[in-house]
Formats: sequence, C-alpha cells, structure tokens
Amino acid sequence: MAIQKTYTMIKPDGVRNGHIGEIVNRFERAGLTIEQMRLEMVTPEQAKANYAEHEGKPFYEGLIAYVTSGPVVKMVVSGEGAVSKVRSLMGSTNPAEAAPGTIRGDFGLSMDENVIHGSDSTESAEREIGVFFG
Ligand code: RTP
Ligand code: MG
Repeated sequence: MAIQKTYTMIKPDGVRNGHIGEIVNRFERAGLTIEQMRLEMVTPEQAKANYAEHEGKPFYEGLIAYVTSGPVVKMVVSGEGAVSKVRSLMGSTNPAEAAPGTIRGDFGLSMDENVIHGSDSTESAEREIGVFFG
C-alpha cells in the first residue's frame, strides 16, 4: 500500500481526560509519522465543513456543538496505508461496540464523546486537511 496522509483529531473529551500523549504514542508505535499538530478550538465553519455529510441527521446539531465545545488536537499523520491504519487504531464509532485495545474501546465514553476523529477515505483526508490546515 502507498504512503498516505490522513487527518485525525483528538476530540474535546480526549483532551479534557488527558489522552493526548497515549494517542500520539499509539500512532508512533504503529509506524505513523506526525506531520502537523495543533492544540486549539474547532471553528463552527470547520465543524460544518468536516461533518457536511451528516447535515440534517438527528445527531448533527449536537455533534457540531460538541466538537466546538473545547480544545482539540488537530493532526496530519502520514505513513503506509495511514487512512485505514488510523481508523483501525480508533475502533468502532460507538465506544460500547469498539474492541478493547482500540482508542475508542479503551477511552470512549459515549457516541458523542468518542475521543477521536479520523478521515474515512483518501478523498476525505485531502478535503479535511484543507479545512483544518489550509
Ligand atoms: P468521525 O467522523 O468522528 O471520525 O466518526 P466516524 O467516522 O466513526 O462516524 P460518522 O458516521 O462519521 O459519525 C460522525 C460522528 O457523529 C456522531 N454520531 N452519532 N447518534 C448517532 O447515531 C450518531 N452517529 C454518529 C459520532 O460522534 C461520530 O463520531
Ligand atoms: Mg466520519
């Protein structure tokens, strides 16, 4: 598989609960490289652009409110098959269904407070890197 770049973000609960170091460590142990990293808020414009595919769904407004509620860690990560590798490390969207040993399985609290976001395709990654890093 080719070297890819992906966008990943430690959500407000992951920052608040002190999981930044552990998550970065898991990425590096998996052979991924942190290309860019910033601790800051998500703007409403960034949140809406990132989650445009979910506009109109019942959870959309809550999702936007949640992801803009506190500082996050925005990252560009690269490596062999980085898009799917990050998704595997994250685990299933619902922490109750995420396998032990995955980030969401180990630290996730609820469907909203599920610790981390990761691009779901190389196309999404390119778009999201543009949204968050310009
Ligand atoms: P993410 O985009 O945050 O990396 O998560 P994902 O790909 O695993 O899941 P996605 O389907 O893209 O959903 C984005 C976020 O919306 C919330 N969600 N709630 N209540 C629900 O049915 C529901 N479905 C999704 C989650 O917080 C999810 O991370
Ligand atoms: Mg998604």
